[in-house]
Amino acid sequence: MADTLIFGLFPNVDPTARAVAGLQAMGIADDQVTIMSAAPYASKLFGRKRPRTWFLPFLALGALGGLAIALFITIGTPALYPIYVGGQALIAPFPPTAIMVFEFVALGAMVMAFLGFLLTSRFPRLEPLIYDERISDGYIGLAVRASERLGDEIAALFHTHGAIDVRHEDAALAGSGNRRFLAFWAVLSVAALGAVLTPLLLTYHIIKIPWVNVMYDSPAVGFQEGPRRAAPAGSVPFQGPRLVAGEPATMPLEASENSLQRGGVLFGVYCAICHGYEDGSPGALHDYFPEVPPINSARVQNLGPNEVFLTITHGLNRMPSLAEQLTTGETWDIVNHVLSLEEGAAPAGQ
Ligand code: HEC
Repeated sequence: MADTLIFGLFPNVDPTARAVAGLQAMGIADDQVTIMSAAPYASKLFGRKRPRTWFLPFLALGALGGLAIALFITIGTPALYPIYVGGQALIAPFPPTAIMVFEFVALGAMVMAFLGFLLTSRFPRLEPLIYDERISDGYIGLAVRASERLGDEIAALFHTHGAIDVRHEDAALAGSGNRRFLAFWAVLSVAALGAVLTPLLLTYHIIKIPWVNVMYDSPAVGFQEGPRRAAPAGSVPFQGPRLVAGEPATMPLEASENSLQRGGVLFGVYCAICHGYEDGSPGALHDYFPEVPPINSARVQNLGPNEVFLTITHGLNRMPSLAEQLTTGETWDIVNHVLSLEEGAAPAGQ
């Protein structure tokens, strides 16, 4: 059966109270009757019971929730993630636990009191409100929701008790807010729950995301592991092995002007004493090493750069190794110098 909504406007408290009594006599429940006034009159004045508020149950619920959260944090977390320090027993530390419990109980009660206030005052109002501007001027409005067949009876009742205005409102419109109100709070609760639970799922490792936040988990290449970044072209290491598997560890250095100049100086320092000078004069030790080949002889000039490098590194028969005296780069400089010489007659004295 369709509902109807009757609105009556009364000049002051007495006629309103009589109208309310009349409605109660007709058997209309109190929660179908809304009294609208600019001043906060006590319900008693209209012969109505004090409307039941849901504050206390809400408050108690919030306090219990807060207690549960506090106990979970202070007792649950150390039980889930035990850290044993100095052989001490795992217990919830007393003074901090008491403080946490107090704080969370108070917080829970406060939050739920606030929510309870919003809910009992049916915030948000998503329906068009029945209102009359004259209520602000001191008149009292009475809105009654009742089945349609009682409509005229209620209107007549309002008139007998001195209503200055009686209207029929669209009940369907005014009643449509309830479902939207519930939907609003359902969506809000789900969203709030999600916002609180999602970080907790991560915090308590129920959902595990493999963050790389510890060094030994992060990808790294030890110096003995590949792949390594290649050295820039033309670079010669000063450290590291000189030979790899018996071969020069580096590519021959480019025979640049600088390299040739360095090689010439170094040859004069390390090699000429046996192999002879550029002007063809024999080295000082020539008499002790009669078998030494002139550096521009066909025998030397037919060698490849790696072979000269290896000869300097290892020595050859009575020629000593010069690996300790020369860096890898200096060795290549000398190789460049030696192989840049023109093949020709043996220097004087040989
Ligand atoms: C202590 C004397 C001595 C010094 C210093 C010396 N050499 Fe020699 N070198 C020799 C002797 C001796 C031979 C011949 C070895 C043989 O054939 O038995 C030789 C041979 C060579 C050969 C020929 C290798 C071959 O496979 O035929 C080259 C190239 C060479 N030396 C380059 C150098 C260079 C470059 C230096 C300076 C970094 C140098 N030597 C310093 C004594 C020396």
